[in-house]
Amino acid sequence: MWKGRFTESTAAVVRDFTQSLDLDWVLAPWDIAGSIAHARMLGTIGILTPSEVGKIEDGLQRIRTEISEGILVPTLELEDVHMNIESRLIELLGPAGAKLHTGRSRNDQVATTMRLFLRDRLLGIAEGMERLLDGLLRLAEKHRRTTIAGYTHLQQAQPISMGHYWMAHFTVFSRDVSRLFFALDSLNECPLGAGALAGSTLPLDRFFTSSLLGFPEPTCNSLDTVSQRDYMVDYHSFAALFAVHCSRLAEDFVIYSSREFGWLLLPDAFCTGSSMMPQKKNPDVLELIRGKAGQTIGHLLDLLITLKALPMTYDRDLQEDKRGLHASLDTVDQILAVLPPLLSTVDVDTKRAVEGMEDGFALATDVAEHLVSKGVPFRDAHSMTGRLVKECLARGKGLFELSREEWKDLLPEAGEDLFPMLSLEMAVERRRTYGGTSPERVSEQIARGEALLRGLQERRSGYRRTVDAPSRR
Ligand code: ARG
Repeated sequence: MWKGRFTESTAAVVRDFTQSLDLDWVLAPWDIAGSIAHARMLGTIGILTPSEVGKIEDGLQRIRTEISEGILVPTLELEDVHMNIESRLIELLGPAGAKLHTGRSRNDQVATTMRLFLRDRLLGIAEGMERLLDGLLRLAEKHRRTTIAGYTHLQQAQPISMGHYWMAHFTVFSRDVSRLFFALDSLNECPLGAGALAGSTLPLDRFFTSSLLGFPEPTCNSLDTVSQRDYMVDYHSFAALFAVHCSRLAEDFVIYSSREFGWLLLPDAFCTGSSMMPQKKNPDVLELIRGKAGQTIGHLLDLLITLKALPMTYDRDLQEDKRGLHASLDTVDQILAVLPPLLSTVDVDTKRAVEGMEDGFALATDVAEHLVSKGVPFRDAHSMTGRLVKECLARGKGLFELSREEWKDLLPEAGEDLFPMLSLEMAVERRRTYGGTSPERVSEQIARGEALLRGLQERRSGYRRTVDAPSRR
């Protein structure tokens, strides 16, 4: 493509080293969409005749089919997807094909292709996230009145509603979806027409190409346009934190389903066995989800380090943005393919879920707060209840096993009205502060969650409509 300036052909090692086909050939459909928009725009400003535009469009459609059917095989001599397609077009059309690249550089072309590709993939991920959120809402509804142990420091802390637990993960993932949409919004500007870096002497209509490609507007600074990949960093930030969140959920499940905890029941279909130990049922799916977080964090750092200290504007380093992006998108897709169906099959052993709390010590805070209602300052109530626990431990008794006489003797400040409160269910029921664990509060969270999910679905389908509409024109 640049042989005019050169007297020597490119060395074979350089060809192999600089090519990006292994990573960008899959981007062909998006590159073609960008080229069609560019050709139509060149038609509207009189650089291409209507017949040339028609020929280019037909040629590009034909190339699309040739690629999908494996007839067109790219060559490394042509470095990347962009030049392979353009070269095939010239082969098919001659001079008309040679006009396509007018006013365009691979710098704005690759930026456009990447944004179109990423937008489609992120909308797919948004759908997966909706399935995940929906699964958590179903679980929360089902387990609104299931009592489990709540942990801090992985020590039993206070009894909670399991619906509340599921809504905690729902809340976490709904923040991730906000970050996903942030990435979508930040990529949603059209780079086409920025040229190599400075724009063009030709009267390119950037607003026209932008709207053809379903972008709300073109990017506003051509130098920035060809040199930035911030929207990709935004995606990677989403992906890294999302995978971290998945790893936490997976770790919970690994712990709760272990023999020692034993109250979260995993279906056989989502577990694997041991090649040696016949009794084993291992949570490999969860461990792999946990393990994948490292890669997504790595891909974020990889891109940040590539971008660091890059001189304005385009630098070839930017070609390295693709490997990590593909890998990370695939990882997120894989997690989203396995996690929602896994969630829909987990069950709870409700007896074992409260095992270890039947001594009543998990209600020590409730006792102290009861004393507060009798006018005892909380710090005093705390140490009085602490002493009560110590005495119980010395007597080898749980709180629930103390007789009324022992209560009178050990904690005279407590009133009769304490005793009806001393059950795990009441402890959950009574935590009615906003965002707290009582089933009625959980119901409110679920209702808010349903509304949030509907909002996300609308937002995604709205995006889809604007993205898909232009290509149907
Ligand atoms: N293959 C390159 C990429 O994937 C295309 C851009 C090359 N631009 C250039 N001026 N050499 O990023």
